[in-house]
Amino acid sequence: MIGIYFSGTGNTKHCTEKLVRLLDETAQTIPMEDKSAADLLSRHDFIVLAYPVQYSNMPVMVREFIKDHSAIWNGKKVLCVATQALFSGDGAGCAARLLRKYGADIVGGLHICMPDSIGDVKLLKKSIVKHREMIQTADQKIEKCAAKIRQGRYPKDGLYFYDRIAGLFGQRLWFYGKTKDYSDRLKINDACTGCGLCARLCPMENIAVKNGKAVPGNRCTMCYRCVNSCPARAITLLGNTVVAQYRFDKYADAEDSTGIH
Ligand SMILES: Cc1cc2nc3c(=O)[nH]c(=O)nc-3n(C[C@H](O)[C@H](O)[C@H](O)COP(=O)(O)O)c2cc1C
Repeated sequence: MIGIYFSGTGNTKHCTEKLVRLLDETAQTIPMEDKSAADLLSRHDFIVLAYPVQYSNMPVMVREFIKDHSAIWNGKKVLCVATQALFSGDGAGCAARLLRKYGADIVGGLHICMPDSIGDVKLLKKSIVKHREMIQTADQKIEKCAAKIRQGRYPKDGLYFYDRIAGLFGQRLWFYGKTKDYSDRLKINDACTGCGLCARLCPMENIAVKNGKAVPGNRCTMCYRCVNSCPARAITLLGNTVVAQYRFDKYADAEDSTGIH
């Protein structure tokens, strides 16, 4: 078994690592941007593939990874995991359908609600206490699922036809193409100090520091890692001001850390 994830702000990383560890404590979990990811996947028969839902869809980077490595999925057993703030309908189903086209055997789908990562939009913002409660509930769901999976009973979140209808009409139809349309819309304002943290963190290598300022390119995959990490709060995408910076590690690291400002 191997776990592979894409994660902007750490939710999906946490969920994948926890689930995989509970299923097989010797199994490895790797980020999708790891250069050896495809090679490692090809050597395993059972894959836990996880990503954050974006408008009831999978991130562009995940779609491209699956397509770019289309030859490795044939005959693999795959459990699709989608983290989400509230609702996706068929978040896990999006990858499942594509993977089936490449011959994968989809054994299950799992949706896990985690704190919202969109740092520049007020909607869905919750208190620190509520975020911690969400993470606890998520952890409990993962533990229950792992226990059932060990008995051969897989969750089927997002895999049914009515989930697809809910995802399509609930969000995807209205937001279709949004991830693509936003690939060159990252905004970096004058508060930028040119520290280069965003450039180092970006999984798409989409930000460069030029003349002491961070400059965005046109490959943004909307993961929100830079928006939530910038010490100067200088980066926005959907909104124009940073309302709350969220990163999973801020919750995990220290009792009094906030994760939301
Ligand atoms: C661009 C964008 C779109 C999102 N769309 C949805 C959505 O449609 N439904 C939902 O419940 N959560 C949505 N979310 C919230 C994330 O899926 C959720 O916070 C996820 O756990 C973040 O995972 P990560 O920390 O691994 O990046 C969205 C987040 C972003 C950045």
